[in-house]
Amino acid sequence: MLKKLSIAAIAALSLSAGGAMSAVVGTETTDVDFSFEGPFGKFDQDQLQRGLQVFTEVCASCHGLKYVPLRTLADEGGPQLPEDQVRAYAAQLDIFDKELDDDRPRTPADHFPESGDPNAPDLSLMAKARAGFSGPYGSGVNQMFKGLGGAEHIYSILTSYTGEEKEEAGTTFYKNPAFPGGWIAMAPPLYGEDVEFADGSSNTLEAEAEDIAAFLMWAAEPKMMARKQAGFLGVLFLTILTVLLYLTNKKIWAPIKGKKLEL
Ligand code: HEC
Repeated sequence: MLKKLSIAAIAALSLSAGGAMSAVVGTETTDVDFSFEGPFGKFDQDQLQRGLQVFTEVCASCHGLKYVPLRTLADEGGPQLPEDQVRAYAAQLDIFDKELDDDRPRTPADHFPESGDPNAPDLSLMAKARAGFSGPYGSGVNQMFKGLGGAEHIYSILTSYTGEEKEEAGTTFYKNPAFPGGWIAMAPPLYGEDVEFADGSSNTLEAEAEDIAAFLMWAAEPKMMARKQAGFLGVLFLTILTVLLYLTNKKIWAPIKGKKLEL
């Protein structure tokens, strides 16, 4: 019995350690300390705005964000752009309007455009879709043991290109140990200094990758803060209720428990 247990424990540990095995299938995910991690984590408004800039200037030429309404750019807890900037941002993106039978500028009520490149997946939900992706054979154990989520997966893809390329059936693939299979059809989109941030923030490859990964996390889960707050209130409520029930229980049973048995 003990032997069996220790074998199981060793197996679990080696799975969580993961590194060597995950290298085989190519899901090497780097841990990043994002501001929104942990029970009290919050999105960093400035970082989300920088991420939006990276998305707009680099990723948007191929990728869409079709499930994200443009108006949410003004939301509290999100990038929190002023209303006039959201209107201006929307207006520079055209949309085909069936009623007008013509293109018109978008308004904050419209969504971000769809992917322009049919091979590039929509990124609206990517950070959630890939949340449990890292670990040996995409088993997700690294999310459980190391807290590695979708944002880390995106960060790792953007920073793990080795520079190696190969061509297969007319498509160029780029070596990337963070991508399952180890070869991805997306050319490295970031090299560092791809965008110039107005506030002079660092624009190294790693800094840009972190900003866009945080932005895509917000896009996929804009209400993360509200969820955490509700969870915290729930735990607080249950704790107080537990104490009250314990005291009530003691009080109700006190007369009986306190009595000596009279023979
Ligand atoms: C030239 C077009 C192009 C640009 C620019 C581009 N991508 Fe991609 N991206 C692709 C294609 C094509 C794929 C599909 C790759 C595949 O499945 O092998 C992809 C896939 C992805 C994936 C999915 C990985 C997965 O786990 O399935 C992510 C995340 C991603 N891109 C993020 C980005 C980010 C962030 C940017 C901007 C910094 C960006 N991309 C810029 C074309 C592009």
